[in-house]
Amino acid sequence: MSAPIGVFDSGVGGLSVLREIRRLLPGEDLLYVADSGHVPYGEKPPEAIRERSMRIAEFLIVQGARALVLACNTATAAAVNELRSTFDMPIIGMEPAVKPAAAVTRNGKVGVLATTGTLQSAKFAALLDRFARDVQVLTQPCPGLVECVERGDLQGPEVRVLLQTYLAPLMQAGCDTVILGCTHYPFLKPLLRELLPEDIQLVDTGEAVARQLQARLLESSVVAAGEGRERFWSSADPQHMAAVLPVLWGARGDVDTLPV
Ligand code: SIN
Repeated sequence: MSAPIGVFDSGVGGLSVLREIRRLLPGEDLLYVADSGHVPYGEKPPEAIRERSMRIAEFLIVQGARALVLACNTATAAAVNELRSTFDMPIIGMEPAVKPAAAVTRNGKVGVLATTGTLQSAKFAALLDRFARDVQVLTQPCPGLVECVERGDLQGPEVRVLLQTYLAPLMQAGCDTVILGCTHYPFLKPLLRELLPEDIQLVDTGEAVARQLQARLLESSVVAAGEGRERFWSSADPQHMAAVLPVLWGARGDVDTLPV
């Protein structure tokens, strides 16, 4: 029997990555931590995010994780280097899908929806420098969206107004491709599709991260066969996460209180 994979996010948004991992690796046992007691990470100082990420990584390793996925763009930008230099195991992080967006844009204009923390990070600047030299990139911080998804509000008036506000400058600038640079945002795809013209392309990195994890597991250990299980923890009220799991994960599940 293989040891499990540990996955964490500032909240429930990383479930959008967990579902890609589950699709690709059906036999793996998956441990998921939602740090919803400290969400959103997007407006917090990087040191505070590093501190939370270290504690959660340690917790998942104590639970037996043999690899970690930071299913959070903001936590990756702030903490992935420190985690990689501390723990000797595969550690996969997220990054806004600038490379794929630059490859698929037809008019060379790409919009990025992400948190302030992600957009202001050195990692994001390096990503633009590497992959976006030939395209025009417009960035749009999106305060408030993460909180809507945390509540399971994917279609209501508040999230609708926020999205309309954040999409307007990107559409006015003529972007034909929009990057979902936060793992909470893929849950808003149905609403985004409703609000955006049909020909606007949406890109995110959940599936690519699952493939990267699979490749890293194959390098260092076997990939588990059979039917994997999931365990969930939340640093906020576990009943709240249990209530949104059927909407965001597609099934019920028990949620324990995160003890760190
Ligand atoms: C947040 O907690 O503000 C967002 C998490 C992310 O960037 O994926």
